[in-house]
Amino acid sequence: MMLKAEKKPIHVRSIVISIVTLSLFLLLTGYCLHKPLPDGFTVTQWDRTVMHVVEPALRVAYYYPSRMFSKASNMVYWTRGALNILSKTLGLLVDTQGQIDIEWQNWNGTPVKIYRPINNQTSTDGAVIFIHGGGFALGNVEMYDSLVERMAFEMKTLFISIEYRLSPETVFPGGILDCEAAIDHFYQFGEIQFGVNTSKVVIMGDSAGGNLATVVAQRRVARKALPALAGQVLIYPLLQMADMQTVSYRYFHTRLNGYALVDPESVAYYYMFYAGIDMDEKAYLIPSVVSNGHVAKHLHKEVEEMMSYRTVIETTRNYNNHSISERWQIEKNYEAQDLMKPFLTNPDFSPLMRKDLSNLPPTMVITCEFDVLRDEGLIYAKRLEASGVPTTSIHYENGFHAMLNFHSELHEASKSVEDIEQWTLNIINNA
Ligand SMILES: *[C@@H]1O[C@H](CO)[C@@H](O)[C@H](O)[C@H]1NC(C)=O
Ligand SMILES: *[C@@H]1O[C@H](CO)[C@@H](O)[C@H](O)[C@H]1NC(C)=O
Ligand SMILES: *[C@@H]1O[C@H](CO)[C@@H](O)[C@H](O)[C@H]1NC(C)=O
Repeated sequence: MMLKAEKKPIHVRSIVISIVTLSLFLLLTGYCLHKPLPDGFTVTQWDRTVMHVVEPALRVAYYYPSRMFSKASNMVYWTRGALNILSKTLGLLVDTQGQIDIEWQNWNGTPVKIYRPINNQTSTDGAVIFIHGGGFALGNVEMYDSLVERMAFEMKTLFISIEYRLSPETVFPGGILDCEAAIDHFYQFGEIQFGVNTSKVVIMGDSAGGNLATVVAQRRVARKALPALAGQVLIYPLLQMADMQTVSYRYFHTRLNGYALVDPESVAYYYMFYAGIDMDEKAYLIPSVVSNGHVAKHLHKEVEEMMSYRTVIETTRNYNNHSISERWQIEKNYEAQDLMKPFLTNPDFSPLMRKDLSNLPPTMVITCEFDVLRDEGLIYAKRLEASGVPTTSIHYENGFHAMLNFHSELHEASKSVEDIEQWTLNIINNA
């Protein structure tokens, strides 16, 4: 009895101590992890609150761990796995009321997921081909399920989402060829299989998917493929890596460093993996690449020409007068220059470098203020416009890269989905 009476308080005390320690630890971690979001990063109080939870969670789940790997490929695989798991918590509130039939098919060797309004109750006889983002290396069709299903439901339109192969396992131009194989099949059988009028097909993609979407569109124009695409929707697309010191890149260095947002180093890693470069061996090239040391001298003139609207962007979009750091001192690296020479001005890799943009279909370009890729999207929109392509450029002052993945959690992201749906339906109906 005595023994028990003596033991019990000790036991309780140790539990209390554990709880207090754990709480202190969590509070301290929470305190250390909390970073105030920059002014204007998402607009409503709700959106900011959500992002104050989501952003540190992403930092803990993949940003910090992914920086601990000595091999870059392991960083990619970790991030891929972490995002695949985390994304399952998103879009749970999307309710398409059983109105969308979903089915996998294999088209010319490429798996595609088909989202079809049930009983063929479509509002149009057009269709949308969706190519997901993720730096050519992350993400999959499933991760974009809620977004694509929502659009199919709200637009009452057939959506096709393409499961192209990812790098580093499959490198450039594998992803492009996968998309083209599936799209060729769709053009061949879309009318018989789905009753689609193939002159009313819009291609859509975000981030690296925006790169693939516009590369497919450009290549169709170049080889005069018919029927022409009716439109392209490019959502914060990744379009080039010959200038990693645009204002939007430099803004990241000054104000967004350390947040779990797309960062310059990651763009370099992922783009170079896509180019087929073994970044496990070549990680030491990254600092010179982010300073533009990978751009060979003989390419400068061509790059400057393709990016000639940069000055307009730099002088008109100045981040509410925040001062932006100067361009970094270029850390020239001849090895990086040799490795990247075949890619930097190759339009299939860097579609912003395509000289002739005329005859591209009507285009919607979505850009976000908090995105290193902001400027290349804005420049592409300007160049398309100057080439006579009907272009709608919508810039979200409070938006950030990848915000559409939070379309059911954030008001601003949801609003941008509505803008995209409206534009796309209008294009399909007037094709
Ligand atoms: C929908 O349309 C396709 C193509 O016309 C047809 O094969 C399919 O049977 C239709 N499905 C329904 C449920 O009506
Ligand atoms: C930025 O600076 C210009 C010129 O000094 C000024 O007219 C403008 O109001 C400023 N904008 C903001 C958002 O502070
Ligand atoms: C398909 O759409 C085009 C463009 O609106 C139209 O000219 C054509 O007649 C349509 N074809 C069919 C079979 O409805």
